Amino acid sequence: MKNIVVIGAGTMGNGIAHVFAMNQYQVSLVDVSEKALEKALITIEKNLDRMLSKGSIGEEDKKNTLNNIKTFTDLGLACTHADLIVEAATENVDLKLKIFQNMDQLAPANCILATNTSSISITKMAAATQRPDKVIGMHFMNPVPVMKLVEVIRGYATSNETASQIMQLAEKLGKIPVEVNDYPGFVANRILMPMINEAIYSLFEGVAGVYEIDTVMKLGMAHPMGPLQLADFIGLDVCLSILRVLHEGFGNPKYAPCPLLVNMVMAGKLGAKSGEGFYLYQPGSKELVVSASFSK
Ligand code: CAA
Repeated sequence: MKNIVVIGAGTMGNGIAHVFAMNQYQVSLVDVSEKALEKALITIEKNLDRMLSKGSIGEEDKKNTLNNIKTFTDLGLACTHADLIVEAATENVDLKLKIFQNMDQLAPANCILATNTSSISITKMAAATQRPDKVIGMHFMNPVPVMKLVEVIRGYATSNETASQIMQLAEKLGKIPVEVNDYPGFVANRILMPMINEAIYSLFEGVAGVYEIDTVMKLGMAHPMGPLQLADFIGLDVCLSILRVLHEGFGNPKYAPCPLLVNMVMAGKLGAKSGEGFYLYQPGSKELVVSASFSK
């Protein structure tokens, strides 16, 4: 595999493009928005500078990584010679089904179609194509250049050959792949989201405040971020939509999203990306300030 297409230039897409390009793959980064592509290249350069200043890469690595990335707004042009396409578009099932139909029509017959979805069924996306054996989940974690895990999800019809190619590829990226099957939330979010939801319930029911809940989990369980900070980092809208997939997919009330989470999303408090969630986010500041809605 040499030519990799990444669809979607958001946080996950630019991180995925960064990691492939840094490992000498030719990357075509595709987005409908020219502006999003420009922003992605700026983010990738900033993250490479961060690695450069830490000494984990050299000037030459930075230059080569940026040279390995080309940007496109036309999927057809981008995927003429693609060996693998990683779809990392917005987490919306209808949009993803449409992208899978397009990829199937435009990509070479032997190209593997992967998705970075955090919870939408791989089997459903595979069924929208004529090559369900070549469709697979490749779930990277945020921040992609830092996190070691790739959750590799086999759909109902994914072939052994496709799975083993993707496992090997993830290793070549310096990641640790783990193979799981296609059920709601896979493994990562089936376990993570109920923990986040329970933390929000603990706040909602007045068991403890934001700082206290996060401190218990950070210092008591050695988590790098408390669950409320992590929810802000992932995006509260994303957490809510994954919980809904779990709730609907299993038909089990234990996954019902906390009403506080639903309210916050309706109010546009989506976490770091909107400037406020459980914490307040000021540009340029790393200080953790609890949102006025939750401070005592
Ligand atoms: N690109 C490159 N390097 C980056 C980076 C980026 N985007 N972000 C951080 N780094 C590097 C820093 O340079 C630093 O490197 P060194 O260790 O070599 O110094 C290291 O990562 C740590 O960064 P910071 O010192 O700035 O900050 P930190 O110590 O607070 O770590 C963190 C930040 C890595 C994000 C850490 O807080 C963490 O691990 N948080 C939890 C992340 C997590 O759980 N991610 C999964 C989310 S769930 C998901 O993604 C999937 C889903 O489906 C919802």
